[in-house]
Amino acid sequence: MPKLIGRVADGSTETFARVILLKDLERSIFAEELVLIKNGGEKDPLNQILGVIREGLGKNEFLNHTSYRPDVAYMKYGGEPSGAREVYSFIIKPIGIITENGIELNRAIIQPRSPVYLLEENDKPLEWIAKGGEILWMDAYLEGHEEWNIPVRKEFIPYHVAVYGSTGSGKSFFTRYILIPLYIKAGYKVLILDWSGTDYAPYFQNSKDIEKINIMDIALDEESILSYFEDKTYNFAKNDNVKNGFDEFIEGWVERVKNVRKSAKNDQELVKVLYKQIKEHIQNSISGIERKDWRSSAERAMRRIFRRLKPSDLQPIVGIITIEELLKKFDNKKILVIDMGGVLTEAKLGFFLSLSKYLYDLMEAGNNLNIALIIDEAPQYAPWDPKGIQIETSEMIKNLAALGRKRMLNLTLIAQGIKGEIGINAAVRRNLNTQFFGRIHPLDAGGEGGASEWLSPYGITPDQMLQLKPGKFYFTGAMNPSPIPLLITYKILKGNDNG
Ligand SMILES: Nc1ncnc2c1ncn2[C@@H]1O[C@H](COP(=O)(O)OP(=O)(O)OP(=O)(O)O)[C@@H](O)[C@H]1O
Ligand SMILES: [Mg+2]
Repeated sequence: MPKLIGRVADGSTETFARVILLKDLERSIFAEELVLIKNGGEKDPLNQILGVIREGLGKNEFLNHTSYRPDVAYMKYGGEPSGAREVYSFIIKPIGIITENGIELNRAIIQPRSPVYLLEENDKPLEWIAKGGEILWMDAYLEGHEEWNIPVRKEFIPYHVAVYGSTGSGKSFFTRYILIPLYIKAGYKVLILDWSGTDYAPYFQNSKDIEKINIMDIALDEESILSYFEDKTYNFAKNDNVKNGFDEFIEGWVERVKNVRKSAKNDQELVKVLYKQIKEHIQNSISGIERKDWRSSAERAMRRIFRRLKPSDLQPIVGIITIEELLKKFDNKKILVIDMGGVLTEAKLGFFLSLSKYLYDLMEAGNNLNIALIIDEAPQYAPWDPKGIQIETSEMIKNLAALGRKRMLNLTLIAQGIKGEIGINAAVRRNLNTQFFGRIHPLDAGGEGGASEWLSPYGITPDQMLQLKPGKFYFTGAMNPSPIPLLITYKILKGNDNG
């Protein structure tokens, strides 16, 4: 039998109650515990309400610091005032009425004087919530209760997920330890985009189910290769004939690289051979120019370009795994980790665009993907104020999110902030229907769209969010069967660390 901890105070409504604690329990009852209210009394209650306690309050009217009272005066001279008039209480945020079919919204007034019970380990209250609809269990647990794993509504996984928290709050760890295994359990394949190559790649080893791929081994589309050359040659030394020469050579680029790779001993030789081929190709195409002045200006442009362009400049574009081949790996792998470290931001975003276009086309053609796409450092792809190629990547993420809901694509976006300069683009953010909030940045504490706007209606204050320890997150939104956010955490298992 759960333990009686107090009674409902005056002023309760159907969605709000305050519990006055029994004597001395303020020492052992803490915020975020789950409680049961037997609404109307221990015997024959009207209903039983599960709730979370938050916002504790200690009152001693006789110690009011703004008025003069005998107790205050006594204390002023070093005496210890009496504690007999102290009242400790917590707000209870009702999760819902417990029924056979799970949790239902409480519409009855919570009666003052109703007894309140603390739920303990073997009451397993989260099982009461986990009814109705298909439920999966995360390896994360309710803060303070290692045995109470957290239920998740499976059907809302493709409604997308956001993980927010300032640097070091545990977002990447949480994703690795909890979300990725959850998605696997739900039957999704997981594609991880490791922006810097330091947050995921080092923790996953190639195995039966897992493959790591370096972004440099992935083929770029021909458009991106052309713009890469454009960049490296100062716009082809502003000569259209030379540009055409490059353009012609790039046609069928991946096939060409594959062919050369067959005979090349190593990458160094590969880029040398390709370099020579490009040079010859352009030489030939220029020498076919009939007008003499055009020909000699093209020759000058070419000399200038090849003085600067080096074989090693080809290294970033000799990847040969096409996006199609990449996704084909899911036929026998469950997790693919793309190590995006060591290339320029434009190259990362260029790859992302090719990948997302491909996924979008698959979905538009009616395919269900069953893929979870982990986008860590999400503001790099979809910042609040996108510029250049980010305009396209933001738009693409928004489109993937919209179509993904029906096509079993989960997007998991991870960011240090929610809104504004450190956050995720607002149009994208609106599509993320489940949120995990870790310790927040002060910039996110207040204001429209900030964490407190999300959480303070549930009695979670910005002060608490600013102080969360690493690895603790408030879980809220579509995937959470509890309408009230829950504080969850997880354990780091040393030595067993491959996601
Ligand atoms: N559940 C946990 N318990 C204890 N410590 C944890 C937990 N989760 C993460 N940490 C610690 O927090 C540190 C930071 O975690 P992580 O790298 O996931 O942060 P992050 O939010 O991704 O940061 P960044 O925004 O800088 O990428 C880890 O090195 C780890 O030691
Ligand atoms: Mg991180």
